Amino acid sequence: MKYYNANLIKDLDKISNLVYFNEWFLYVEEILLSDEFQKRKLFYHHDGSLWNHLVSVSYRSFLMAKYHFKKADPRVCAIAGLLHDFYPKAYKYSKELDDLDHFYVTDVKKKQPIHKMHAFSHAKDAANNSVKYFPYLIDDKIYSCIETHMFPMTPIPPKYIEGWIITFIDKKLSFKNIKEISYLPKVIYERFFEK
Ligand SMILES: [Fe+2]
Ligand SMILES: [Fe+2]
Repeated sequence: MKYYNANLIKDLDKISNLVYFNEWFLYVEEILLSDEFQKRKLFYHHDGSLWNHLVSVSYRSFLMAKYHFKKADPRVCAIAGLLHDFYPKAYKYSKELDDLDHFYVTDVKKKQPIHKMHAFSHAKDAANNSVKYFPYLIDDKIYSCIETHMFPMTPIPPKYIEGWIITFIDKKLSFKNIKEISYLPKVIYERFFEK
């Protein structure tokens, strides 16, 4: 398996010297070690791999809880941030996917009805997939944070402060390279609707 690496610290060398890393790592180590999660290194996500995006959202949400929101639980931010896009199948083709089982690419070229399009369906899919692979880690709060992270593209807002943190950090990272606000509709279309 080309994607699998049991030496997580090597994968995480860009952040392993940063503040509070050990605490964050303790919360998420078993997710990072799972074979299913490591397959996300091969999933396309905007400018890089989905794995990179998930680690960034998790670590930054965790830090935001530590530094800025006393009422937020850093553990919830770390776990829900890491799993917020843990949907079961890739939605865009990338050549890296050729290393994976056919299961992961079956939806890539399929036309979907609107309510099943990636932008509107993947948050719920990620919450359910998280329960499937990590049932002992997912409580109602973590499930809700994952399920609502696409607000306002999906209608139900986050119920918990941790959910708002993840929603904010996810948007901030996903749109960080957009120089002008007028490009936004085009970028949203390319990222969430175009195959
Ligand atoms: Fe998402
Ligand atoms: Fe995301």
